[in-house]
This record gives sequence, C-alpha cells and structure tokens, in this order.
Amino acid sequence: MADDNATYKTIVTKRDTRGFTGEAVPAETVRRIVQAGRMAGSSKNSQPCRFVILDDPAQRAAVAECGDFAAWLPEAPLAVAVVLTEAGTRQEFDAGRAAQNMMVAAWAEGVGSCPVSIHHIDCGREKLALPEGWRISIIIGFGYRAKPPKSVPEAARLSWDDYVKSNRWS
Ligand SMILES: Cc1cc2nc3c(=O)[nH]c(=O)nc-3n(C[C@H](O)[C@H](O)[C@H](O)COP(=O)(O)O)c2cc1C
Repeated sequence: MADDNATYKTIVTKRDTRGFTGEAVPAETVRRIVQAGRMAGSSKNSQPCRFVILDDPAQRAAVAECGDFAAWLPEAPLAVAVVLTEAGTRQEFDAGRAAQNMMVAAWAEGVGSCPVSIHHIDCGREKLALPEGWRISIIIGFGYRAKPPKSVPEAARLSWDDYVKSNRWS
C-alpha cells in the first residue's frame, strides 16, 4: 500500500496531544468519533463497552481528579469515557480497539487526542454515576491541537528491529 494512502497516513501520523486551542468540536464530528468507537469489533461481539460523552467542563474537571496524570484533561474541549462491564484482558482489548478507532477517526478530521488513565476506580465510578459492576477503562481527551505534531513521528518509537520479530523471538 502506498505511503500516501490517506488512511495509512492518518494512522501513522496520529500522536497524542495534551494541548488544545479550546475551539469546540462540532456536534456532527463528535457523533462520527463516537460512532467509530461503537463500530469497533469485540470478542464474540459481546460489546462490553459503553461511552460517556463528557461535554460538560465541570464533569471533565471532576473526573480529572480521579487520575494521577490527568491535570490537562479539563483544558480539552471534549472527552469520552470508555466504560466496561467487567475487568479482564478480553474486555480491555475491546476497549482499546474502540478507543483507538475514536482517536484515529478524530485525527482524520483534524482533531487531536490523548488517553487518560483513571487510577482511582471508585472515584471514577462515583463521578460518572456508573452502575454497580461498571468502571472506567480509559478516558480520551479530544480537541484541536495547540501546536503542530512532531515533525519526525518515528522518533519516539523503538527501532523496527527492536519492535518486530520474524517467526521467532531470535
Ligand atoms: C493505556 C494508556 C494510558 C495512558 N494514560 C495517560 C495518562 O494518564 N495521562 C497522559 O497524559 N497520557 C496518558 N497516555 C498517553 C501516553 O503517554 C502516550 O500514548 C505515549 O506517551 C505515546 O505518545 P505519542 O504517540 O505522542 O508518542 C496513556 C496512553 C495509554 C495507551
């Protein structure tokens, strides 16, 4: 596939951003971002995720208190919490697929993003008023980037040979 394929370019140039212009993300764009997450596949089509759109700044500020590295989250004009029914590797994988779908779909529309961990599970559950048995898997902050992405996107990754093996580890 050619390197100028638009989908490929969107995927490999997507970098996480924590600094936003503050410009609102239009409702139709929000809808497409969330729809991209909803369409992600899941193990046995179990669909263990739900999404909570955080378009209220007070809610973004409240839930940011539940993460140890979430100080920038209130500055994002939009956030989406990916919440899960049960803890487990399968469900976390499904949540990751949904989260990446949303971030890539957003970037295709010029909207940057970054995941935020919610370390304090009970805090997150309480702030979002989640039912018993549900918890936040990840929150994604979205918005228009304040600064352009790094000019050499590969610079922050391990070398190809460190990352990629063929048939066996060695
Ligand atoms: C599961 C997960 C949790 C993350 N949690 C946080 C977080 O709590 N706060 C934060 O600022 N960044 C968080 N990040 C963003 C990572 O720091 C980021 O993906 C990594 O530094 C690579 O960024 P780059 O694509 O811009 O190189 C998280 C990323 C992942 C995948």
